[in-house]
Amino acid sequence: MSTAADPVPRAAPFPEYRGLEDAHLADRIEAVRRRMGERLVILGHHYQQDGVIAHADFQGDSYQLSKSAAERAGCEAIVFCGVHFMAETADILANRPEQVAARSGRRVTVVLPDMAAGCSMADMAAIEQVEDAWADLGTVIDTTDITPVTYINSAASLKAFCGRHGGIVCTSSNARAVLDWAFAKTKRVLFFPDQHLGRNTARTMGVGLDEMCVWNPHDPTLGGNPAEQLTKSRVILWQGHCSVHAMFKPEHVDAMRANLPGVKVLVHPECSMEVVDKADLVGSTSYILKQVEQAPPGTTWAIGTELHLVKRLEHNHPEQTVRFLSPVVCMCATMYRIDLAHLCWSLEHLERGRPVNVIRVDDETAQWALTALERMLAVR
Ligand code: 13P
Ligand code: SF4
Repeated sequence: MSTAADPVPRAAPFPEYRGLEDAHLADRIEAVRRRMGERLVILGHHYQQDGVIAHADFQGDSYQLSKSAAERAGCEAIVFCGVHFMAETADILANRPEQVAARSGRRVTVVLPDMAAGCSMADMAAIEQVEDAWADLGTVIDTTDITPVTYINSAASLKAFCGRHGGIVCTSSNARAVLDWAFAKTKRVLFFPDQHLGRNTARTMGVGLDEMCVWNPHDPTLGGNPAEQLTKSRVILWQGHCSVHAMFKPEHVDAMRANLPGVKVLVHPECSMEVVDKADLVGSTSYILKQVEQAPPGTTWAIGTELHLVKRLEHNHPEQTVRFLSPVVCMCATMYRIDLAHLCWSLEHLERGRPVNVIRVDDETAQWALTALERMLAVR
């Protein structure tokens, strides 16, 4: 379980910050950054709005941000402009027991500027549900022959579950390498919470759809699967998804191809298999950025991932045509909760020594989650 120390009432200062102009908030944020210097690190995920990204020391995908947090053990505080699971991961990696001991017990304070910045996909797998599924699976198949793999978009307790059961964490940028690692150990994988990343990745490895099944945590009868389906499955996919990426549909790809001759369709692997099958390229947020950055002028793109990332690409690459794959707005509303007001509020309290929205994973959960995260970092 993760706990958050919040010594200042969450809503109290907001009227005072809410009314401020963005330019004024930006000045105050920069003033804190100057005064705190290297004691402070601000990390920002690619989906953050531009105004927030402008203040980040480092911008990246989930894997790069985890690595960055692991390497920032020298700072006093990490302010994470992302979502809750990312800040939990930063707390675990920046506060590895040997590093805390080397700092004479001092922890790196990890702050999430708005505690409501969660991830709807991460919320689709609760530890109790995963433990129940594991027990139920054990009635049909030998669980010593299953490696649990959790997408990093999950609570620390799920990462700890993987740590305890010989499992591992993956991100969208290393899912293939992680599944290779898992299949070198066991015949089967239980992949949660994102069925799409699991299915899309397993297919690239030659696992057939008939060797996969979907586990519905709300169905008490073996997750909705006949026992024979489970025994022949190599990949058991948790029935979870990203509500943002679920909005991209195969017909959007068809419409783009009809309207933009020569368009390259580039999507995130959290999109459904039907969308991925119609795309030209599939990869993590950093992969998506890299493809556009490296393409020659005049390239036309239709991109299926969060809106802020696509809009920034469109702005930064006027020499190319960048279009959003869906006709409707698909944005990560929880990521968007991190705004300048929350960032300024959390930074000013941090500087005064009264941090708000501190993310602190309890020691036991952190220890086992670290085991699964370190396995991932060793794979790539
Ligand atoms: P990346 O790991 O590709 O940055 O994706 C994170 C995420 O939450 C996508 O929805
Ligand atoms: Fe979670 Fe989807 Fe937002 Fe990524 S885009 S943080 S998976 S809700």
